[in-house]
Amino acid sequence: MQGTRHQGIPFAGAPLAGAPFAGAGRSLAAGLALGLLLALPEAAQARAPDPAKVVGATECAECHKEETETWKKTRHYKTFKELPRNKEARKIGKALGLRRVRSEGLCLTCHFSSKTEDNGKTKPIAGISCESCHSPAKDWVKRHSKYSGKKKETETPEEAKQRWIDAEAAGMIRPSMIYTLTKNCYGCHIVPEEKLVNKGGHPAGSPFELVRWSQGEIRHNTWHNSGKENRPLSPERLRLFYAVGVAVELESALRALSKATEKDRFAVTMAKRVQIARLRARRLARATKDPDLVKIARAASAARLTLAEAKSLAGIADLVAKAAQAFAEKHDGSKLAAIDRFLPDNKQHKGKTRTPGS
Ligand code: HEC
Ligand code: HEC
Ligand code: HEC
Ligand code: HEC
Repeated sequence: MQGTRHQGIPFAGAPLAGAPFAGAGRSLAAGLALGLLLALPEAAQARAPDPAKVVGATECAECHKEETETWKKTRHYKTFKELPRNKEARKIGKALGLRRVRSEGLCLTCHFSSKTEDNGKTKPIAGISCESCHSPAKDWVKRHSKYSGKKKETETPEEAKQRWIDAEAAGMIRPSMIYTLTKNCYGCHIVPEEKLVNKGGHPAGSPFELVRWSQGEIRHNTWHNSGKENRPLSPERLRLFYAVGVAVELESALRALSKATEKDRFAVTMAKRVQIARLRARRLARATKDPDLVKIARAASAARLTLAEAKSLAGIADLVAKAAQAFAEKHDGSKLAAIDRFLPDNKQHKGKTRTPGS
């Protein structure tokens, strides 16, 4: 996984002023001290969208044809049919004493989208779908699409502005909300479920990096150009995606580690993720000198990666989150050319980017 691949990269460079960087370069498994077994509440839960507010991808497809065709080529779509037949899934289920994957709340949270039908019954309707990323749409779907009851050409700029304010207030996650979008990916992709990992043998998160993972099979920038092309991210936006991705990786791994209760695969993997992400955050901070990135790197450098530090780790995660949001809101990417050298090249994108019409 990504972790092991980057672990060997030596971090040559002066430490940031005042930021003691404990443990750089040391083996993490060895560096993770055995902490006290903490009596913590429930493990960090992935956010399960409210099925009563899900309308379903079929409704989005009425207008968003190209985006829907792209989605249908992704793992997110295919997992709906494939997971219940997957041998590995049955093994995980068995280890946890579960019977049917598709009806298990725990697996549903991340692998499927559920909807409450008019008769009051809730059932899985798809894999990871539009509303897993843009949020359940019942309260915003009509509002975002109707040009305030006018036509595209006759809606005034003020009305359009108000329409988007309303859609966002009703929960819509828009492409402009990079931090929130990314946090959502990580809610599933870090797999913040200790028991699922340690006892069930589930992968301890994906080797996720936002640019690589969003610009391959996932990319569906076909709307604002009427399906003419699946537009790549602009150079400015790529920088933001990369930096916000590193910050949210750090935040999510710190949070997951803060909820760990035993020194096993889950805690060890999350500690490794923190270690790698904070190296990257430090590189970004030094290259850009951006005050929020510097804040993130400093806070993370001070984190002691032991189970006994749960409370302080959660505090550091909060700090990282706040600075990451501030960073995402402040920048349009134009002043961040220093990030370009860290960007992965197109060949590293995960999966095949779909061409519209194919
Ligand atoms: C009745 C047609 C219609 C339906 C149904 C519809 N949309 Fe849209 N959608 C639109 C229109 C029109 C726009 C562009 C509005 C604009 O640019 O001002 C849009 C824009 C968007 C955007 C881009 C927003 C932005 O900030 O640029 C997203 C994301 C989106 N829709 C997601 C969805 C999802 C998810 C669903 C299903 C839950 C859905 N839409 C259902 C018509 C629709
Ligand atoms: C917190 C989110 C989350 C939960 C809960 C979850 N998974 Fe997963 N699962 C993932 C992610 C993310 C991946 C992709 C991992 C990767 O990138 O390799 C995955 C991958 C898998 C895979 C490998 C898929 C493949 O195609 O090879 C199996 C099998 C699996 N999960 C089964 C389960 C089962 C069974 C449950 C319920 C007991 C479950 N998962 C619950 C997030 C989750
Ligand atoms: C894995 C998460 C994910 C899923 C699933 C997803 N989207 Fe998106 N969507 C995004 C992200 C991230 C962006 C912004 C990408 C960017 O800015 O380049 C986006 C952008 C969009 C846009 C704006 C495109 C443009 O031309 O600028 C629309 C419209 C949209 N999504 C609709 C949908 C619809 C409809 C579905 C379901 C068929 C869907 N999305 C499924 C994450 C997702
Ligand atoms: C609701 C949970 C959830 C959300 C949100 C989510 N994913 Fe996923 N994603 C999964 C699961 C589960 C899998 C594995 C499915 C399988 O293989 O069975 C997966 C698989 C993928 C894959 C395919 C990986 C491979 O090995 O081929 C990519 C790429 C991906 N996700 C990117 C993203 C991006 C980018 C975002 C955010 C914009 C995102 N995902 C949001 C749950 C999620």
